[in-house]
Amino acid sequence: MATDTESRHGMWSSRWLFILAAAGSAVGLGNIWKFPYLAGENGGGAFVLLYLVCIAFVGVPIMMAEVLLGREGRQSPINTMRQLTRQHNRSALWVLIGWAGVVAGFLILSYYVVIAGWSLFYIGQMASGALEGATGAQADALFNDFLADPWQMIMWQTIFMVLTVYIISRGVVKGIETAIRWFMPTLFVLLFVLLGYAVTSDGWAQGVDFMFGLDFASLDGNSVLVALGQAFFTLSLGMGAMMAYGAYVPNSAPIGSTVVIIALLDTVVAVAAGLVIFPIVFANGLETGQGPGLMFVTIPLAFGQMPLGIVFGTIFFVLVSFAAITSAISISEPALAYLVEEYNAKRSRVAISLGVICWVLGIGTVLSFNHWADVHIVGNMTYFDFVDYVSQNIMLPLGGMFIALFAGWALPKTVIGAQLGIDDGWLSVLWKIVCGIVAPVAVLIVFLGVLFG
Ligand code: PFF
Repeated sequence: MATDTESRHGMWSSRWLFILAAAGSAVGLGNIWKFPYLAGENGGGAFVLLYLVCIAFVGVPIMMAEVLLGREGRQSPINTMRQLTRQHNRSALWVLIGWAGVVAGFLILSYYVVIAGWSLFYIGQMASGALEGATGAQADALFNDFLADPWQMIMWQTIFMVLTVYIISRGVVKGIETAIRWFMPTLFVLLFVLLGYAVTSDGWAQGVDFMFGLDFASLDGNSVLVALGQAFFTLSLGMGAMMAYGAYVPNSAPIGSTVVIIALLDTVVAVAAGLVIFPIVFANGLETGQGPGLMFVTIPLAFGQMPLGIVFGTIFFVLVSFAAITSAISISEPALAYLVEEYNAKRSRVAISLGVICWVLGIGTVLSFNHWADVHIVGNMTYFDFVDYVSQNIMLPLGGMFIALFAGWALPKTVIGAQLGIDDGWLSVLWKIVCGIVAPVAVLIVFLGVLFG
């Protein structure tokens, strides 16, 4: 049974293992695949700045809120919210935060697994030397041929889903902890190697200029929403994943500094990925705004031209796949933990059922790149665009807004004080302002801006 100090699902061995696990959740396709292509589509530097502002003023306080709620409840987000609302006599409607998170998790995982499957496919392509010495046009063609073949994509989607289900069914704490000890440092080293390559490429200056040059004219109201949505997505916020992980954090860990370290690690990886990708784009005359294919064309191209590129390229996609798995695991944790608690079900059974549902939902994403490419759900959005947009840009920010409101206003000061290790002085006022006002109001303004915009 859960007690005040331990979760029935297990506990992280130390504060640093929580940092690694949370960074494992945060660092994923969102950093290496999505951030560069969103920056590319939204004109670069000004978007990057907006994103950083969202991380600092909205992301960090909301991550603190999630972790503290999780640690206070020590259960899945749904049951944590249930317990806290009962204990402090608050409306049961707050529990919807937990339910919405579970729905968002299904949607996100369904397409996440498909894209992660692409990176599995590229492991084989890199290892076989198929991209050695390839030109931009050849790298482009390889990717487009892959997208045109739904069966290939479904095969890789299935393999990735089976791997994810296997790991989550074995239990998060041990599985992740072991994988993560060597994966995060290796990822940093490899990004550094790639950065070295990018610095010496002809496109470096142009790439840096694109990432940090401030051209506000390239932004519109929607870019602000996209930057905000990306901040939530990349930090794994707004759907209870960090709340679920927070439930396993030892009481001795200080929440504030721990969360800042996680956010910094995540941001460094995203910015480094952009600084690797854009110089290669410019040096090879590729398009910055080419969308989801960006990483899958530029990175193989760069490795194809490098000495030992086959080895490094293969390792790179292995790592992207690992980064994706450690995130995928955390996306499913809120639903998984809830079902295990509620039905006293075996983790492995629940994991398989979740996997099957997400796999089926993911077929729509696969088809969005070929047979259904011209089927538009709203405006000119494909099924994938739609699921991605609704989950990332609407559900996560809204979920995060209510989490912040709950932690800022509905929880008694004493609970917050004990969790954050602060007394009733100015820090407690600062918390009210940042978590109770700044973060939720920022989300609201962006929403209203887009609605009436
Ligand atoms: N943060 C992950 C990434 O950047 O790839 C994605 C993610 C993980 C989103 C967990 C949401 C989540 F709950």
